[in-house]
Amino acid sequence: MVELYEAMSSLRAVRRLKSDPIPAAIMARVLQAAAWAPTGGNVQPFRIVVVKSREKLEKIEAWYQQEWARYTVGMRSAVDLSDNDNPTVRTLKAGDYLANHLHDVPALLVFCFNPEHMAITDAGLDRPSVVGGGSVYTAVQNTMLACRAEGLGCVLTTLLCFREAEMKSLLGIPPEWGTCAHIPIGYPILRGHGPISRRPVNKLAYFDSWGDAEI
Ligand SMILES: Cc1cc2nc3c(=O)[nH]c(=O)nc-3n(C[C@H](O)[C@H](O)[C@H](O)COP(=O)(O)O)c2cc1C
Repeated sequence: MVELYEAMSSLRAVRRLKSDPIPAAIMARVLQAAAWAPTGGNVQPFRIVVVKSREKLEKIEAWYQQEWARYTVGMRSAVDLSDNDNPTVRTLKAGDYLANHLHDVPALLVFCFNPEHMAITDAGLDRPSVVGGGSVYTAVQNTMLACRAEGLGCVLTTLLCFREAEMKSLLGIPPEWGTCAHIPIGYPILRGHGPISRRPVNKLAYFDSWGDAEI
């Protein structure tokens, strides 16, 4: 099995996925990885709806296509779309592929959360609250690392939050629950996980004072 640091350093977005089914034992391990995640007060205020129904995925795909098109308008006008060496163009093409093939993925993992079960310690601050998400995205990251270990491609998506009402109605999600991550998973069509481009650590981590980097 892939070593942990190798998994973390090659966990890139994989948007071209085969429709081949995921064996039940592998899906069970991926979901177990989510369940192991730490959450505030160990309350585990998240649930996962695994969508495999073609009929439902077709509806979801239509919503995703609309939101992806809306989200990428500016990106498309800022690049030469025939320049395949441009990383933005490559992302756009992979994203277009996903938007046109969501109906065909073997599973879409919809992460739901219940804010009533969360101690959201930054809720009263004069800025957008982030802490509540921390009791879901730990599970999201565990899920994606498990996919990496199992040779499955995946990508964290959030554009379907714009269509939360429709998603809740389609999947029977109770009123008090929200949705915050939608992860299509499947075997990669191309190379799958691989090199990632990130800021160097000394631009992200400081020692004792903001801006003071040691490494
Ligand atoms: C909070 C969050 C939301 C994201 N939403 C989307 C999305 O809706 N659609 C999509 O194609 N990718 C989405 N991504 C994937 C990012 O675009 C991707 O991780 C980032 O560009 C880095 O790409 P790489 O992992 O391939 O290096 C999201 C990632 C995060 C962390």
